[in-house]
Amino acid sequence: MSQGSSSARKGIQQYVATRKGGPFQLIDAPYPVPGPNEICIRNRAVGLNALDWKNLHFGMMVENWPEIFGIDTAGVVEVVGENVTDIKAGDAVMSLAGHGGRAGAFQDVTTVPANYACRKPAAWTFEQAASVPICYLTAVATIIKGLGVPLPHLREPTKGEGEAIPNLDDLISPIATRPPQHLPKPAQINSVLVVGGSSGVGACAIQLLRNALPNLVIISTNSPAHKYKVTSGLGANTWVDRNLKPSEIAKAVQDASPQGKGVDAIIDAVSGAQGGANKAIFDSFRPDGPKLYSYVMTSMQKVEVPNGVKAAMIYGRMAFQTDGGGFEAMTRLADFVDKGDFKLPVEIEVVGKGLSAIGGGLEKLRRGVSGTKLVVSL
Ligand SMILES: NC(=O)c1ccc[n+]([C@@H]2O[C@H](COP(=O)([O-])OP(=O)(O)OC[C@H]3O[C@@H](n4cnc5c(N)ncnc54)[C@H](OP(=O)(O)O)[C@@H]3O)[C@@H](O)[C@H]2O)c1
Repeated sequence: MSQGSSSARKGIQQYVATRKGGPFQLIDAPYPVPGPNEICIRNRAVGLNALDWKNLHFGMMVENWPEIFGIDTAGVVEVVGENVTDIKAGDAVMSLAGHGGRAGAFQDVTTVPANYACRKPAAWTFEQAASVPICYLTAVATIIKGLGVPLPHLREPTKGEGEAIPNLDDLISPIATRPPQHLPKPAQINSVLVVGGSSGVGACAIQLLRNALPNLVIISTNSPAHKYKVTSGLGANTWVDRNLKPSEIAKAVQDASPQGKGVDAIIDAVSGAQGGANKAIFDSFRPDGPKLYSYVMTSMQKVEVPNGVKAAMIYGRMAFQTDGGGFEAMTRLADFVDKGDFKLPVEIEVVGKGLSAIGGGLEKLRRGVSGTKLVVSL
């Protein structure tokens, strides 16, 4: 440990899901010890995500109970492990967390790898900052991994990258089982449909796409209430009412696409094309186009795609393993925000203060939100 010391610190409280379905329980725990390249963050605000209630009610990614959830946090660094040089004790940061023991956000102090975190932009409160990391990282991965589009705010590709064209079908393989892939050769993409442009992930994806490809035609599906937000606010060219029938959505997207031929790619932030009639959304594709379908993993079920569609199932942590600067996806975020190129994706609602407010917040989230991230202050 190079800065701060865990040994002299008092214990912490953890908000633990005791078993599938709950209840939560507050328990006392010793102050964590960071390993090399890790930091301990005193959480000041935590973001609530659908994954948290899905884990609670379905045990979606839970191996052992009791478990500590929470994948988004913002707070102040208290202790840093060996080799951490860019972050020091006392820094205000925002960070991806990860359910499981000391990495979960729903506790007083969270311990994560230093590259999961970045300086909190001065313009954002802790509550705002805590609403962003997982959605931003997931959007980064949908674009780099799923569409093969590099993001200019991350490092420029090094010489030699981009020359190998991967089989896009490979992109659905679990990335953890294979080494990082070379950055795909930038795909020829002139138009993209973002399904769920007003969701946290979708709102990040629209901004990142607009920044990367200024001439790209971006069409969003969302509720009418968010039409100005996704267009004037985030940079989509136009929007389609997500309450239309899927076949009507596909028709409207085609009409809005270049020459009315359909879009080259779809980023599906909400698995909107999952099952039954929703498959009609694939009719939005240009018949002779690359038909890239990059969708966020929202359950353990893959989205079945028609023949000819190149699908990539995406989860947030993939961002760190993408070439083209993915490892630094979080650390580059603060400067990106400061430059005015990335806005708070969705409005926040603070649903309570203290760890005990998390359970009620998750139930509220489960009932559904629209263009809002729920956050708890600590
Ligand atoms: N695997 C991962 O690593 C990972 C990471 C992040 C998120 N996720 C998953 O991705 C999904 C999105 O997460 P999020 O935090 O971005 O969600 P969110 O902001 O809570 O999503 C709510 C929004 O989704 C929109 N929406 C829902 N169904 C839609 C549909 N059929 N068509 C268009 N829009 C629709 C609604 O739009 P309107 O209000 O405009 O109606 C609403 O604003 C969640 O299922 C989450 O579990 C997975």
